[in-house]
Amino acid sequence: MKTDKLNIRLFTIEDYDGVIKLWREANIPIRPQGRDSREKIKQQIENGITIFLVAEIEGKIVGVVLGTHDGRKGWINRLAVDVNYRRQHIAVKLVQELEHRFDQIGLDVTACLIEEENSISMEFFKELGFAEWSGKYFSRRKSPES
Ligand SMILES: CC(C)(COP(=O)(O)OP(=O)(O)OC[C@H]1O[C@@H](n2cnc3c(N)ncnc32)[C@H](O)[C@@H]1OP(=O)(O)O)[C@@H](O)C(=O)NCCC(=O)NCCS
Repeated sequence: MKTDKLNIRLFTIEDYDGVIKLWREANIPIRPQGRDSREKIKQQIENGITIFLVAEIEGKIVGVVLGTHDGRKGWINRLAVDVNYRRQHIAVKLVQELEHRFDQIGLDVTACLIEEENSISMEFFKELGFAEWSGKYFSRRKSPES
């Protein structure tokens, strides 16, 4: 099985190119001139409220999840698995590890925002026992790259 040698660990800035490639291939929106520049990501992993995990197999990054928290709630952001490694529970393992780390800092709620058309992601989170809450997401950005 491809995932025998799966290792989940914290992202380091050396993983940057591999993660950007994976996000692009998984159609995760990225803003390389803004919030996803190497510099911004570096700042983010040092901010104390980010738990950025990668899943690797023999040095190749095959999955990623960007966890953040607000002191009460943990957020699952930008979860993605390499298309050649899907349906092998790599995403499940990434979320389990992230939730374990959320537990360790005393967070009681885990949440994620899913775009309406992303039915696969909805299936995934339902399968993991997440309950659906409907609402509208409002935001204000300093720039389109924010
Ligand atoms: C969503 C995503 C991360 C799932 O990764 P994955 O490693 O393939 O998922 P898992 O193998 O852990 O799936 C666990 C369960 O979720 C459900 N699931 C996952 N992919 C599914 C699919 N394509 N169709 C239906 N159910 C699916 C299944 O119940 C699956 O369990 P099973 O394989 O035993 O039936 C992956 O499809 C992906 O990278 N998608 C593109 C990026 C994206 O949309 N990310 C989510 C942003 S919110």
